[in-house]
Amino acid sequence: MLASTTTRVKRLTSFSELRAWRSSLKDGDSVGFVPTMGALHAGHSSLFKKARRENEQLLASIFVNPLQFNEGKDFERYPKTLEEDCQILEAQGVNAVYLPDREDLYPEGYDTTVTAGRVGDVFEGYSRPGHFEGMLSVVLKLFLRTKPHRAYFGEKDAQQLFLVKKMTKDLDLPLTIVPCETVRCEDGLALSTRNSFLGTEERERSLCIIHALRAADALYASGVRVPAELESVMRQCLQEEAGFFVEYAAVVDDKDFQSAQENHLGSWRAILAVRVGATRLIDNLLLSESA
Ligand code: PAF
Repeated sequence: MLASTTTRVKRLTSFSELRAWRSSLKDGDSVGFVPTMGALHAGHSSLFKKARRENEQLLASIFVNPLQFNEGKDFERYPKTLEEDCQILEAQGVNAVYLPDREDLYPEGYDTTVTAGRVGDVFEGYSRPGHFEGMLSVVLKLFLRTKPHRAYFGEKDAQQLFLVKKMTKDLDLPLTIVPCETVRCEDGLALSTRNSFLGTEERERSLCIIHALRAADALYASGVRVPAELESVMRQCLQEEAGFFVEYAAVVDDKDFQSAQENHLGSWRAILAVRVGATRLIDNLLLSESA
């Protein structure tokens, strides 16, 4: 099932090229799909690696989706690094990459979006109105066009992953969503395209993010089941020690992404979003039952 690492990635720049590639595949070949917005890093590579192991054909997409950016500036400054990205895709044995432009995905008159339901309006959805609607709309469209057997999403964007799984289940989409563990730098900072915007001093202070999540984890492992206490220890690291603007620091039940209820048993996930200067960073950690 392993592809040669020297395979040249086939660039598909329109829906018709994608359709032709898709219908050229052998019946029975499974297709793994990794949707991205480009600016690829080791976090994406871990998705490609997992998808490469589990499928005969591996397809990626690169499209910076304007529908999911609520701040125009953020959309404009999103890095575009196609040639470097293609080198990574080739090194990871990706067979083809779909590179639609805006007109290809959203032709004149396009006017339909997917609503994200109540989990779409909280945390990331509250901070970035319309973000999840735009994200789900493009993901659904990409799924319908690429027809993958499996699609791979990072746990770093936990709320996105939750909503993609929910949409797939609610709309009976015929594919499996495969979650992939967050990849971190040695010092614990989660890999993100936005890390490249951090200055040296901001990068150093950003370590408080993993410290905050680990502090919540330690309290949880010691038996504390009071969300407010976990949230307060995170805020202390982020706000008081690092001086970050905290958009949210919360604990959710991993099953339904609703705020965790005091003493309620279940799997809890600590989630947070901070502003480090002009850069917005998010991270999360599934809390461990014991130390
Ligand atoms: O996580 C991302 O990179 C994007 O939200 C996605 C899934 C590619 C949709 O644009």
